[in-house]
Amino acid sequence: MTNKVSKIGVLTSGGDAPGMNAAIRAVVRTGLFHGLEVYGILRGYQGMIDDEIIQMDTKSVANIIQRGGTILKTARCKEFFDYEGRKKAYTNLKKRKIDGLVIIGGDGSFRGAVKFGQEFDIPCIGIAGTIDKDILGTDFTIGFDTAVNTAVEAIDKVRDTMDAHDRIFIIEVMGRDAGYIALHSGIATGAENILIPERKTDMNDMVKSLQEKERRKKLVNLIVVAEGDDFGGAVEVEKVLKQNLPKAEIRVCILGHIQRGGSPSCLDRLIASRMGYHSVECLLEGRHNVFVGIQNNKMHYIPLENAVKNKGKISDEWLKIVKILAS
Ligand code: ADP
Ligand code: F6P
Repeated sequence: MTNKVSKIGVLTSGGDAPGMNAAIRAVVRTGLFHGLEVYGILRGYQGMIDDEIIQMDTKSVANIIQRGGTILKTARCKEFFDYEGRKKAYTNLKKRKIDGLVIIGGDGSFRGAVKFGQEFDIPCIGIAGTIDKDILGTDFTIGFDTAVNTAVEAIDKVRDTMDAHDRIFIIEVMGRDAGYIALHSGIATGAENILIPERKTDMNDMVKSLQEKERRKKLVNLIVVAEGDDFGGAVEVEKVLKQNLPKAEIRVCILGHIQRGGSPSCLDRLIASRMGYHSVECLLEGRHNVFVGIQNNKMHYIPLENAVKNKGKISDEWLKIVKILAS
């Protein structure tokens, strides 16, 4: 494990997340600082297969730390699931003598990287760039803080209308498999109910409590639902509530992709810079297939194959707090 790298590639893969640019900037500038050649691979694994690879200099990453999206673009790539696709990608790296990779993405991107790093002799370092905050081995993922703050700002605005009209609002936030955006934005906006994929939704219980609130004229109620909630998202929840609360004014608001865009928060810029810097240090130390996370404010390294989706880990404490504070 001592093969020092000299030419490294960086790519963003899977869903974009605010702060990815800050991470790219950190990788490029740390690499250049250490005298490495640094290459940007466009459109994730697709660009590696299609040979869309460009050499980066310090100016290539100027004026991007504050920008959402990713200057390298991102993609989902079917061909990378097959060995033939990965071999093509390797040939393109080999041709330029690229001998280390930094992958900024989610657990899917890491699964691809693990296979790639095992099949071909190329060290891969993973950094979590996903708004869902659903990766094991890190307290933060790049993009979550921005996304959750975007959701909070939007929900606060909806609350004005909710309050003015005495309405029930069901707001759907992102999170296909993870309820962190719903939980954090819901607590921060004083939601009465938060529905997340990690917990079975007891619709009877929720209906009963809303009926009881209607009796005591508490008509303003905020329900925050993660898109991947087992009940099927905001529209499904609305159907049930309309049947059981015929007098209530109920509206649905789906926040959607506004949560994925926008200028990254200070926290996202910081963690992206820190993780980007350490990912290059890892390559220089000769580490192979490692995930660079942050735990308890310290860098935390685990094998990349262990950086899987963090399922069902939301603590009961949070849900208890929601119940007590929303009474
Ligand atoms: P994310 O990284 O955000 O979780 P995806 O799950 O869509 O996003 O994965 C991004 C890309 O990573 C996929 O389009 C594919 O190219 C690659 N990938 C995901 N899983 C695998 C796998 N099991 N084998 C090979 N490549 C994979
Ligand atoms: O993983 C991030 C995420 O935004 C999820 O919350 C959401 O379900 C998914 O990506 C949507 O992905 P896309 O719009 O890129 O298909």
